[in-house]
Amino acid sequence: MNNWGIIGIGRIGLSMARNMSDKGMSISLYDKVFENKSDPFFDQKKLYPELEKASVFNDISNFIQSIDSPRKILILVPSGKPNEDIINYLIKILNENDIIIDAGNTNPLISYNNKLKIAKNKILYLGIGVSGGVKGVLEGPSIMIGGDKSAFKKVKDDLALITSKTIDNSNSYDFFGDSNQGHFVKMIHNGIEYVEMQLIASIYKLLIASNNFNNQNIAQIFEDWNNTNLNSYLLDISTQQILEKIDNSYLLEKIDDVADDNGTGRWMLKYGLELGCSLSMLSTAMNTRFISKLQSERNEINKYIKQSSKNYKVDVNTLKGAYGFCRLVNFIQAFCLINAANKKYNWNINISKALNVWSNGSIIKSSLINDLYFNYSVENILFDKKIIKDLNDCKSDLISVMVLSLKNDISIPCFSDALNYFNSISSNTLSTNMIQAQRNFFGSHNIKIK
Ligand code: 6PG
Repeated sequence: MNNWGIIGIGRIGLSMARNMSDKGMSISLYDKVFENKSDPFFDQKKLYPELEKASVFNDISNFIQSIDSPRKILILVPSGKPNEDIINYLIKILNENDIIIDAGNTNPLISYNNKLKIAKNKILYLGIGVSGGVKGVLEGPSIMIGGDKSAFKKVKDDLALITSKTIDNSNSYDFFGDSNQGHFVKMIHNGIEYVEMQLIASIYKLLIASNNFNNQNIAQIFEDWNNTNLNSYLLDISTQQILEKIDNSYLLEKIDDVADDNGTGRWMLKYGLELGCSLSMLSTAMNTRFISKLQSERNEINKYIKQSSKNYKVDVNTLKGAYGFCRLVNFIQAFCLINAANKKYNWNINISKALNVWSNGSIIKSSLINDLYFNYSVENILFDKKIIKDLNDCKSDLISVMVLSLKNDISIPCFSDALNYFNSISSNTLSTNMIQAQRNFFGSHNIKIK
């Protein structure tokens, strides 16, 4: 009999299985594709010596029977229907006190429903967000947990073995509250990730389009920045990608100019709308992915727009200041959403705890996370004088970068959103008095007087 079961042995599931097995946990593995006995996994398993003792099943009932009670079953199948189907199946066949651990990018609204469905059968539920990608999950992921506290206590020692060490020297997992709150914190992580990725992509575009920088120069700039407080995992991997070549051409030149998404950013925007919080940077990062898909339209319109030949200078230090500004605003917007959710839903998600869990193993790990954790009042970020001073100090850099991009017809998504957000949040005259007057004129809404 084994102590753990994993359902879903895709890229992330495989890394998780290898990590757990390597730490001495006895595991049973099942994936729907194993029902086809010729699945390549059966050969692939031999490639990983740490999986030697893992038991692989091509039949889900045998898989369930191979796990000691109370069972701990980790689900790593894609969110949506595959995830829903497997949970519905497990509810029918598991016993009281067995633990279902939903480790996918599950919508927090669904994790909450899962808990309600599962509770009827006295099965325990944990909704956990797992960050790190294929390599991070293998070496020590960042894990954000919500759900049944007693179930958490039963798995936490094992989680300590497979995670990384964080900035406060704890392990990169933490418990955030009810069944949906681990997935909520992971959703916030992903929203931050989307904007961080877009900022780097925008900077690359501004530099390469100037005709004064080539991939080598840009990679050098990113590498230099990565040796400063701008250091991040995403900047590091972007540097590597800029230099990557296939058949003597740069990989970036060969990749289609289109980006997909898995839905987490969309869910976060919906929370923003529901809670009345500005997520303008995330909204633009998502819109850029959506617009990227209108490829034939973009190509057609592009034919009718007079293209000026580009040749402009970019001051790298000014760009660096603008980048730092935008990154701070991205975190401010995410923190404000957490605060609003805490208030509206009576949650108690602690932002420092989230930063600590993200500080190692996650895709957004960076010096900025450490800096925010140690040097800013993150729970009440808009009243933190230091962050406002930092933004004010590099605002002129962002304005210069904006002017440059506008004059040269280069769209650098997310940059103007950061600037407008700061200009609005630091202004005591937003012109919403005019909105009030207009609403009152046509809708007889009550006017709020000063
Ligand atoms: C992580 C990532 C991961 C996410 C990918 C893809 O923390 O490991 O957030 O969970 O699925 O980044 O996301 P998109 O397909 O939406 O870009």
